[in-house]
Amino acid sequence: MKGIVLAGGTGSRLYPITISVNKHLLPIYDKPMIFYPISVLLLAGIKEILIITTKQDRKLFYDLLGNGDYLGCRFEYGIQEEPNGIGEAFIIGEKFIGDEDVMLILGDNIIYGSGLTSILSLNSGNCAKIFPITVNNPERFGVVEYDNNGEIASIEEKPKRPKSNFAIPGIYCYPNDVIEISKKIKPSDRGEIEITSINNYYLKEKRIIATNLPRGITWLDTGTPESLADAIEFVKVIEKRTSKKIACLEEVAYIRGYISKKKANQACYRYGNSSYADYISKIQ
Ligand code: DAU
Repeated sequence: MKGIVLAGGTGSRLYPITISVNKHLLPIYDKPMIFYPISVLLLAGIKEILIITTKQDRKLFYDLLGNGDYLGCRFEYGIQEEPNGIGEAFIIGEKFIGDEDVMLILGDNIIYGSGLTSILSLNSGNCAKIFPITVNNPERFGVVEYDNNGEIASIEEKPKRPKSNFAIPGIYCYPNDVIEISKKIKPSDRGEIEITSINNYYLKEKRIIATNLPRGITWLDTGTPESLADAIEFVKVIEKRTSKKIACLEEVAYIRGYISKKKANQACYRYGNSSYADYISKIQ
């Protein structure tokens, strides 16, 4: 399974903050936003990751994350010329994905909690997979409706009148044919290859599975000033209380067995005299 982190777009809901800074490089408490989705892919057992961003920001991401070698992983970089929609990730990533399945995570999504690794690692065969979770503002997201048998009845993008409060977080698993399917999808009225259109394609073919995220898992998106501030506060509170860091890439890579403890400890040279460096140097 290959992984893609989508970190392009304009971030316009965060203007003026993101006029000259890529949203996914903004700090979420003590580390850049993009560390969080990358850590989720690493936890899911994915070691080959394509980071898709804009032409002007590619170098910044490379300077931050490099080729992934220090994590026992391989990072590649792709460019999205225009924000043509989330579904374009599979077309841009065609060569990188090759003949494998793919997990896509949006660069502004934070997912944290117990049991996440096993939920994401479940095999879904030839089906697409989404991970709905209840929220109090479903109209801002993709929304899934279930029928009386618990089967998916509909999937809608930002419906004015949501049929349920199950939002679809920005993490998705697809079989390899998502590449060809994405090419067939007609752009929406706002000119985007919508991820919801791709999910509806699989729904029509009865090839999509929904695994609801349980109560122990928290999903935060960071697309607005308020949700960004909430995410920073959330990470700060958890890290202070537990003295464990969320989304410390070196720690996740060590726990997953991609690198030795020694290599994890040594990686602190990249992070100066920060609390992040100190934490890495003490990984047990
Ligand atoms: O956060 C989950 C939601 O993400 C889903 O529930 C929705 O179904 C899905 O459409 C998406 O909604 P958003 O309104 O949050 O999408 P947004 O345009 O804000 O983009 C989400 C992320 O993807 C953000 O990190 C920027 C990146 N992106 C987006 C587009 C459209 C790109 O890199 N390129 C793009 O063309």
